[in-house]
Amino acid sequence: MAQSQGPEPQAVLGLPTRAAVFLVLAVEPGGHPAVRELLTELDGLVRSVGFRHPDGRLSCVAGIGSAAWDGLYGGPRPAELHPFAELRGPRHLAPATPGDVILHIRAERMDLCFELATLCTRRLAGSARVVDETHGFTYFDQRDLLGFVDGTENPGGRRAALAAHVGAEDGPFSGGSYLIVQKYLHDLGSWDTLNTEQQERVIGRTKLSDVELGEQAADSHVAVNQVQGADGEEQQILRANMPFGTVGRGEYGTYFAGYCRTPAVTEEMLRRMFLGTPEAAHDRILDFSTAVTGSLFFVPSADFLADPPPAPETPAPEQRPRPTVTPADVARVHRTANGSLGIGGLKPDHHRPARVRAT
Ligand code: HEM
Repeated sequence: MAQSQGPEPQAVLGLPTRAAVFLVLAVEPGGHPAVRELLTELDGLVRSVGFRHPDGRLSCVAGIGSAAWDGLYGGPRPAELHPFAELRGPRHLAPATPGDVILHIRAERMDLCFELATLCTRRLAGSARVVDETHGFTYFDQRDLLGFVDGTENPGGRRAALAAHVGAEDGPFSGGSYLIVQKYLHDLGSWDTLNTEQQERVIGRTKLSDVELGEQAADSHVAVNQVQGADGEEQQILRANMPFGTVGRGEYGTYFAGYCRTPAVTEEMLRRMFLGTPEAAHDRILDFSTAVTGSLFFVPSADFLADPPPAPETPAPEQRPRPTVTPADVARVHRTANGSLGIGGLKPDHHRPARVRAT
């Protein structure tokens, strides 16, 4: 296969795992060098946490948002990297929310995900802050919290690689991928007023046996998301959705994560879901699911991350270093129990080799 000679992709094609952590970060002014350094070391950090537990299948995919790219890497940009575009339909809204970097951490065990997330965020203290953190879990036999099996029609094997990996169409970025994420909250109260047959019509598959319905309602989730290209060929994305929730807050959600070699396919699906199709006003699943976040990232190949092009020469105005110590930092230093200056992240050391060290 041609791509086996190309750059090594990140672990985008991973099979479902029992646990995941999605960390969305915003880069602080002046934080780009530290973020860049963390990304070069990411592979080593994954090995540090995961190597001792091979059955845990720990992996981490890092993606970069449009606003952060030019502060991290000089040279050309990925051809289709742009901010997530809000979609406002007559009934439903897909909001665009901040996101400079995403870490999509997956493992069979939550402790491995949690440990890696901790190491990364500690390394980024003062340079990037977490703007959304979602801990996902496997719910029974790969079901979402609406009770349906989620992920069945994902492409596998070579078709997955073809759907998810950028190829020769964007040479310097081949082996990369585009990732769109959205956090959805379900209204289980009104979902539970539907009987099983009505729910099956909303999704387009049977609930227990997970078989696609022969006759689809035009506004079923499956019907709305079957998208053909100009050549009539089915357009595919690779989904890595995870259920999440907090029972005490009555929060029951699906974290949607869709990888594709072009964001255009996922965006077309979203337009059909929120703005409708010639046959349907909107995707019926949205009457029971509210999108509360939305961001788009480019996931470079693993080779690009480990050995990136030079950093941009002149920092863009919005990323010039902030004053060395702010009142907030002072307060933080006072709170540091061991008396050391807890502001190391403000002064990244550019001469450190790409090795993993304890913090
Ligand atoms: C509320 C959040 C969502 C839930 C709970 C959900 C759940 C499901 C379920 C249960 C299926 C059927 C089984 C399967 O093939 O996976 C499905 C299929 C699918 N979903 Fe979603 N989904 C959500 C959001 C999205 C979004 C935002 C997109 C695209 C932007 C999307 C794209 C698809 C596609 C392409 C399929 C396969 C359709 C087919 O060819 O049969 N989903 N989803």
